[in-house]
Amino acid sequence: MADLEGTKASHEYYVDEPFANNRPFYVKGANDLDWGMKKRLANIFDEKSGNTVMFAFDHGYFMGSVSGLERLDLIIPKLLPNIDVLMGTRGALRTCVPVAGKKGVALRVTSGSSMLDDDLSHEVLAVDIEEVIRLNTDVMAVQTFIGADGQLSSLDNLSRAVNLGMKYSIPTMGVVAVGKQMERTPRFFKLATRILAELGANIIKTYYCEEFEEVAAACPVPLVVAGGQKLPEPEALKLAYNAISQGARGVDMGRNIFQSQYPVQMSAAIRKIVHEGFTDREAYAWYEEEIRKG
Ligand code: R5P
Repeated sequence: MADLEGTKASHEYYVDEPFANNRPFYVKGANDLDWGMKKRLANIFDEKSGNTVMFAFDHGYFMGSVSGLERLDLIIPKLLPNIDVLMGTRGALRTCVPVAGKKGVALRVTSGSSMLDDDLSHEVLAVDIEEVIRLNTDVMAVQTFIGADGQLSSLDNLSRAVNLGMKYSIPTMGVVAVGKQMERTPRFFKLATRILAELGANIIKTYYCEEFEEVAAACPVPLVVAGGQKLPEPEALKLAYNAISQGARGVDMGRNIFQSQYPVQMSAAIRKIVHEGFTDREAYAWYEEEIRKG
């Protein structure tokens, strides 16, 4: 029982003040979601910039040990200061990632193929919702394959994740896959991102393309842009800048960070673009200066 000595006797109800908690929520398409959903989205998207830096290190779920991710336990702690969200598998999170406060968790919940397969488009929803909750997940990442052989099953995976996510207030991120036979045109990305949003995904991970402003405008939830194959650093920063300046609310980059010769400086430079309004040229000049300083 609390000591009541010194408790203020009078109350102040501010009867002339309007109710203050009536602002619209800042994440696109999330205004009418439950408080718990919004809290998790706020763990992902920064309240000031509205954007996010996700670090994707889930490649091992079908590629095994890729170059740059041989030792997750060594690379991830170095990058933590520069990233907002850790995107990985439950196996990687549990074994290699320190429990660092204030970092969002994007958990890959689908799997089932490997790089030895001819067709990578067949996956299952592999992680139970109880496990998602246990790992304090902020968003479930579901791979989708629009226009590929596995389209139906991947959209079934997405829909089931959204159903469970709505039940327990955990957002779902639809991940647009591009495969060997799949288009990489503005038409394809407009189609795929919109389908995933209409099926209930709260965030869409996609690729940058021409007409990206139109892709973003037509999608009622935030887009985060994947990095794709390793590019020279100035090109990767240009990709991030183009995406953010044309409507993406973040990047979800892997290889262009962990395969850089200077992954810490690269992740910090990307952060400058995503959160501080740097252009790609400003960010690259900053990156070079940081390397020079050593
Ligand atoms: C997607 O399927 C992968 O698992 C990665 O999450 C994604 O490709 C992002 O990584 P990167 O920037 O290396 O393409």
